[in-house]
Amino acid sequence: MSAIGIEAIGIGKRFGAFTALADVALKVAPGSMHFLLGENGAGKSTLVKCMLGYYRPDEGSFLVDNREVEIARPADADALGLGMVYQHFTLVPAMTVAENLVMSRADVPAVINWAQERVALEAFMAAMPFQVPLDAEVGALAAGERQKTEILKQLYLQRRLLVLDEPTSVLTPQEAEEMLGTVRDLAHGGSITAIVITHKLKEVARFADEVTVLRRGRRTGGGSAQGLTPADMTAMMIGEPQAPANPERLGAPGAEPRLELRNLTTANDGGRAGLDIAALSVCPREIVGIAGVSGNGQKELVEVIGGQRAPSGGEMLVAGQPYDGTRELAQARAVRVLPEEPLRNGCVPRMSVTENLNLRGFDRDAAGGHRAWLSRGAMVERAQRLITGYRVRAPSAEAPIGVLSGGNVQRCVLARELDGQVDLLIVANPCFGLDVKAVGEVRARIMAARNAGTAVLLVSEDLDEILELSDRILVMHGGQVVHEAAGPGADAQAIGAHMLGSHHSPA
Ligand SMILES: Nc1ncnc2c1ncn2[C@@H]1O[C@H](COP(=O)(O)OP(=O)(O)OP(=O)(O)O)[C@@H](O)[C@H]1O
Ligand SMILES: [Mg+2]
Repeated sequence: MSAIGIEAIGIGKRFGAFTALADVALKVAPGSMHFLLGENGAGKSTLVKCMLGYYRPDEGSFLVDNREVEIARPADADALGLGMVYQHFTLVPAMTVAENLVMSRADVPAVINWAQERVALEAFMAAMPFQVPLDAEVGALAAGERQKTEILKQLYLQRRLLVLDEPTSVLTPQEAEEMLGTVRDLAHGGSITAIVITHKLKEVARFADEVTVLRRGRRTGGGSAQGLTPADMTAMMIGEPQAPANPERLGAPGAEPRLELRNLTTANDGGRAGLDIAALSVCPREIVGIAGVSGNGQKELVEVIGGQRAPSGGEMLVAGQPYDGTRELAQARAVRVLPEEPLRNGCVPRMSVTENLNLRGFDRDAAGGHRAWLSRGAMVERAQRLITGYRVRAPSAEAPIGVLSGGNVQRCVLARELDGQVDLLIVANPCFGLDVKAVGEVRARIMAARNAGTAVLLVSEDLDEILELSDRILVMHGGQVVHEAAGPGADAQAIGAHMLGSHHSPA
């Protein structure tokens, strides 16, 4: 057995006056699947960063296979066989799988003998429980294959304990299932130990041997996953036994479309078919859910409406007028677009929380005109109101937004975009990376916007989310809308079949 066990004892970590971890204990048996749970900002990522030498804990120690070890820097963790698979990809997209693997080695020679490396790589790949084509360019792989390549890279580097920090948030449910199954087989086969961070309790129920729960930097419970129900785990995470109830849908959709797409097309992109949408409309007080497996045009659709991608043909109308997604028109028509991966696409990481919360509004006066200078007082006041209202947990409003936990960045972007009058709201995967409680809050806010008359286009890979929120559901496949269904009471099986493009309608 090459899998190693690890134990953390009395770990404490402070950032300035803020205590991120206090007296945290964690014991992970070799060859096990250990899940680390907790609400946004609980300290999960901080704990594993201490374990991997990215942060130096202020107190406590780590034991590897029962021996105390010094992990002062990432190289120490490497030498012990500890590796990390991130939520965001670290592979170089323009290089092949083979090139990425060889270049990731610490001992990569100045002149690479590719013929020799090739033989070694093929032997390595043949011994793996799953395969990825060595000659494929990483950028051309689907998200699931890319995540598998990240895991292969860790195995290639001979890691014996893997930390996976929200590894499934960019994967489809099928890909996530397959990936976690692979990791479990490796663990139960004795090759690796896995520490998995996730907010998805279904994954815990299916794949965990043991769990540890953190809350506000402290361990609140844990043990064998067999003995814990989802309600027990939720209680340890958020201090309440259950997640909030489904938000209430009030009032019927309006009749005049607020967003209309007609014969909208975009050019092919990197061998992938462009958009080809014959007709799509969203009315006031209506949530139109776009279901689909990622990579079927959803991203392009959001980019076109957000003005980041030019259509090659067709029309886009907002409130009956031509629309192109420019900042001026978005402002004038009260259109807001909430992109995926907000830290990368919707924030300036090194600017403060206060500044980021004001990114949209700070250069406008109350009447929407340009302002000559920023009113610092108004910015601080607005930020405070949003931080309180959306329960953002930050060390301080002046901290750079990049140091906030993933879920708290998402809350900030939502707060900024949902504040004020919104006529048309485009949201992409709004609950990626959010804890159970935050998911409930965000869905309630989207429903409240709809009830107040906003037209909402909800693009999501989470079919449960689409089914819960949508008035109407459209399924995208290959850049086209291939199916339409009424939201409430929709048949999830039929929608799933259309998502896979495998549905054959009777002649
Ligand atoms: N470099 C840093 N400087 C200051 N504060 C930090 C830093 N890194 C983390 N924090 C704070 O420590 C707390 C714990 O953050 P952490 O990223 O560990 O949470 P998490 O449990 O991983 O949450 P999420 O589920 O949202 O990813 C947060 O309040 C965060 O703002
Ligand atoms: Mg985290």
